[in-house]
Amino acid sequence: MSVVPYKDQQEGKKAQVANMFNNISKRYDLLNHLLSLGIDITWRKKAIKMLQKDQPKLILDIATGTGDFAIEALALNPEKVIGVDISEGMLAEGKKKIKNKKLDHLIELQMGDSEKLLFEENKFDAVIVSFGVRNFENLEKGLADMFRVLKPGGKVVIIEFSKPKKFPLKQGYNFYFKYILPQIGKLISKDQSAYTYLPESVQAFPDGDDFLTVLKKVGFTNTKCRPLTFGISSIYIGEK
Ligand SMILES: C[S@@+](CC[C@H](N)C(=O)[O-])C[C@H]1O[C@@H](n2cnc3c(N)ncnc32)[C@H](O)[C@@H]1O
Repeated sequence: MSVVPYKDQQEGKKAQVANMFNNISKRYDLLNHLLSLGIDITWRKKAIKMLQKDQPKLILDIATGTGDFAIEALALNPEKVIGVDISEGMLAEGKKKIKNKKLDHLIELQMGDSEKLLFEENKFDAVIVSFGVRNFENLEKGLADMFRVLKPGGKVVIIEFSKPKKFPLKQGYNFYFKYILPQIGKLISKDQSAYTYLPESVQAFPDGDDFLTVLKKVGFTNTKCRPLTFGISSIYIGEK
């Protein structure tokens, strides 16, 4: 049974995830930075640095949401970043932000499902995803489609929450993540479930070597995991 945002609803995970992000899109950026004390910004920067040597020209940002990872990818000086997402609300917020920053000639946001990407194979020099893969309905299918659209020799860079393993951080963090974060999230986002779904979905999601196993299964090689901030999040890299 996969973890879904709204347990009392009949819709599948993908439709529920899109609805949830539509509901919280206006408060998403504020909550992200508040709940992580801004650390999420440094995580995205570190992940993008891992592509510095590759100098990718065409980058695909999957589950782009409000576009923060796509914007961060501009540090690599690409010709274009295309961001796709299944939530219209998140994309609308992202488009506003990109227009205000006058970046619309470099970043293009579109509706798109990671499990059915509408791009030809071997198109992108790099594929990036931040905090998206945990929300996929079918993780293997999503990763396999990323592999398909990536050029041979290209890299995938993924950031996702992971589970800290060491005492006492594990215990302290779990308390914050399970009891405090959902209360703040509910108050500000006004969504009853979104910030309960967050710790539950992280708990159920494969991290570390388990995630690398799935990356290898769909074809990626030279896979690596780099834990961030005591293992609260991790960067995963793979090559085609
Ligand atoms: C936590 S947000 C991350 C947004 C952004 N990458 C960031 O770092 O802030 C997760 C995003 O994944 C999107 N998403 C979930 N499943 C998806 C799928 N199958 N295809 C594309 N986007 C998806 C959601 O709509 C949501 O905008």
